[in-house]
Amino acid sequence: MKAMTGRQSGYASPWGQRLLLVAMVMSCINMPCADSKNILVVDSMFAMSHYQTLSLIGGELAGKGHNVTVLIGECMLTHVDTTRHRDILHFEIYDCGITAEERTAIKTIFGKLSLTGELSSFTWYAKMWLGLLPYDPEISAFRKHIFDNKASDKRYAELKDIKERLIAMNFDLVVCDTFTPWCAVYAHDMLSLPYVNVVSSTFLGTRYTRWANSPSPLSYVPEFMTHYTDSMPFLQRVKNFLMHCLSLLIYDYISLKNLDVIRDTWGNRSSLSNREIMAGASLYVVNQDFLFEYPRPLQPNIVLCGGVSTREAQPLSQELEAFMQGSGDEGVLVFSFSTLVNHMDDKMADMIAGALARLPFRVIWKYMVERQPATLGNNTLLSKWIPQNDLLGHNQTKLFVYHGGANGAYEAIYHGVPLVGIPLFADQLDNMIRLRSRGMAEHFGGILEVTTDTLYEKIMKVATNPSYKKNAERTSAIYRSPPLRPLERAAFWIEHVMTHGHEHLQSNRGNMTWVQLNLLDIAGALIAVCLVLAFSLRWWCTSISKELS
Ligand SMILES: *[C@@H]1O[C@H](CO)[C@@H](O)[C@H](O)[C@H]1NC(C)=O
Ligand SMILES: *[C@@H]1O[C@H](CO)[C@@H](O)[C@H](O)[C@H]1NC(C)=O
Ligand SMILES: *[C@@H]1O[C@H](CO)[C@@H](O)[C@H](O)[C@H]1NC(C)=O
Repeated sequence: MKAMTGRQSGYASPWGQRLLLVAMVMSCINMPCADSKNILVVDSMFAMSHYQTLSLIGGELAGKGHNVTVLIGECMLTHVDTTRHRDILHFEIYDCGITAEERTAIKTIFGKLSLTGELSSFTWYAKMWLGLLPYDPEISAFRKHIFDNKASDKRYAELKDIKERLIAMNFDLVVCDTFTPWCAVYAHDMLSLPYVNVVSSTFLGTRYTRWANSPSPLSYVPEFMTHYTDSMPFLQRVKNFLMHCLSLLIYDYISLKNLDVIRDTWGNRSSLSNREIMAGASLYVVNQDFLFEYPRPLQPNIVLCGGVSTREAQPLSQELEAFMQGSGDEGVLVFSFSTLVNHMDDKMADMIAGALARLPFRVIWKYMVERQPATLGNNTLLSKWIPQNDLLGHNQTKLFVYHGGANGAYEAIYHGVPLVGIPLFADQLDNMIRLRSRGMAEHFGGILEVTTDTLYEKIMKVATNPSYKKNAERTSAIYRSPPLRPLERAAFWIEHVMTHGHEHLQSNRGNMTWVQLNLLDIAGALIAVCLVLAFSLRWWCTSISKELS
C-alpha cells in the first residue's frame, strides 16, 4: 500500500485556499475549536457519485479542524482527481482487486445495459442477485465486484494486510459507504472503532432504515424500485409488501450473509451478527430530504442531509457565458446523461439530437461520444464535460433534462430549475416520480419510451407551462430554508456522536422481538381475556338458566 501525503498541488485556486483558511479561523473564533479527531473515510463502492458524497463530508469535517484520511481503491485514481482535495484530505490507497481497466469495463457494461432500459426495473437486479440471469462474463464480473461481498477477492486480503497499519494511525471514527456493507464490519471487527454509515444516493425504501432499526410502515412507504407513491391502493400495497419480502431476501439473507465469508477470511470475528453490526452504527447519514422523499417516521439515529453536493453557482468560462447570454429571452436547456453512458449508439444520438434541434431555444448537451450526431442542430452545443451545478445556477437556464440521479435532482431543486427525466437505472425512475409529485418535473417511464417526437413534446410541455418553474422555485425556497446546509448538518451530527456518543439516539426497537414490536403479544393476551370472559359468561348463563328451570 502506498501513502500519498503530498501537499504541493493546491486546492484548485488561491481563492479556494483563502476561503478554507477563513472558514477554519472563523469556526475557531465563534466557538472553541472542538477536539481535533482522527477520522477514516472508506470509499468502498468505486462509483463516482458515492466517492463524491464521501469526500464532500470528509472535506467538511477537515474544514472543521479534524484530520481526515480517505481510504480509496487504486482503481479509482484514474477517475478521481485526488490532488484537488489533497490540501485538506490525506489519502491511503488500497488494492481494489480489479484494475482500472476492469473497472472501466464494468462501467461500460453498466452504461450499455442502462441504455437497453433493462436496469430500470427491479426484476433485473433481483435476477442478478438470485443468479437467474443467463450467464454472461461481463455481468458476472459486474456482480462480483460491485454487489457481491464474497471473499475470493484480492481486495479483502489486502484489507486484512493493511489492518495493523490503520490501527497504528489511531483513528477515532470510521465513515462508511453503506451500499457495500463490509465497511461497518471492518470497522467493528478489524479496527474496533465506532463507525458512521453514509447512505450516498438513494431514497429511503426499507433496506437502510431496517438496518438502522427504524420503522418503515409499508402502508405508505413505497419499497425501492416499486415506482409507487405514498398513496397506494390495495393491489399496490400487496405488491409493495411482496417487494419488501424480496428486499429482505436479497439484502438481508443474501447480501449480508455474504459478509460471513469475508469475516471468516479476516478472522477477528466478534459475537455480533451482520445485522447487529449494521444496527450498531453511531449514526446513519442519508443523502435524502423530505422535500424529495415522502414524509415518514425515522428514528433519531438517522440524519437526513440530502443534497450534499449543492452549492452556489460559480462564474462560467467566457465561452459558456457568451453562449448563455446569446440565448436571449429564450434561455438555455441543459442536457446531461450519466457519466456512465458514453456508449450511446448512433441511432439514439441522432434521435435525441433531432429533438433538441427542433427546440426554439439553445441547448448545452454533455455528450461523450466521439461521433457528432448527424441531426445536430445549430442551437446545440456539445461538450464532453459541463459545470453542471454552475449551469443550473445560471439565470439563463430554463430547463434541465437528465437521467434522474439524486445529486442532479438536488442541484435542480437547489437552483429552482424544472426538469425532464429520462431514467436509466436503479432509483432514478422513483426519484423522478417524487419530483413530478412536486409539480416541478415530467419524466419518461424509461429510455425505450424516448423518440424524437416524445422528447420534443415533453420538453416543450415543461418549457411552456409556467407552473413547472413556479413549483421548482417554491421547492427551492423550502429546501434552502433550514439554517444549516446539508453538509454542515452531516458534519454537525458526526461531531455530535464523536463527542457525546450515540446511545441517546438509539431507540429500544432493536431489542424487541417481532411479536412485541407489532403488539401481537398484547393482542393475544386481550383475545385470551375476552375468550375467558365469554366462556365464563356462557357458563354462568347456562348454570343460571339450569337453576331457574
Ligand atoms: C493525520 O493523519 C495522517 C494519516 O493519514 C497522519 O500521517 C498524520 O500524522 C495525522 N496528523 C495528525 C495531526 O494527527
Ligand atoms: C439554424 O438553423 C435553422 C434551421 O434549422 C435556420 O433557420 C437558422 O437560420 C440557423 N441559424 C444559424 C445562425 O445558422
Ligand atoms: C442574471 O445574472 C446576471 C449576473 O450573473 C445579472 O447581471 C442579471 O441582472 C441577471 N438577470 C436577471 C433577469 O435576473
